[in-house]
Amino acid sequence: MVNITFIETDGTEKYVEAEVGLSLMEAATRNGVQGIAAECGGQCSCATCHVYVEGDFFEKVGPPQNDEEDMLDFSDLRKATSRLGCQVMITDDFAGIVVRVVGEDG
Ligand code: FES
Repeated sequence: MVNITFIETDGTEKYVEAEVGLSLMEAATRNGVQGIAAECGGQCSCATCHVYVEGDFFEKVGPPQNDEEDMLDFSDLRKATSRLGCQVMITDDFAGIVVRVVGEDG
């Protein structure tokens, strides 16, 4: 298990113990984090799981890949540390990661 802090759109911090191998989206939705609609169910086709990876953790998480890159290009809210939560699989390296929920409605 890895501890993750999700910051919801209103600034509320939710501390989550997440299983390695889940996606950030799954960890968020299973733990009642607000603002991640995950409308496509993790198929990389809605962008309602858009998050910003805070601080130095973006280097561990890495940049988006092809389809994800295309989806993020549609977002006006994209930043350098944007990822789609459904495309980021949790590893042991993520312990202590902070992830800010963007709250896109798709
Ligand atoms: S859940 Fe739809 S793109 Fe991530």
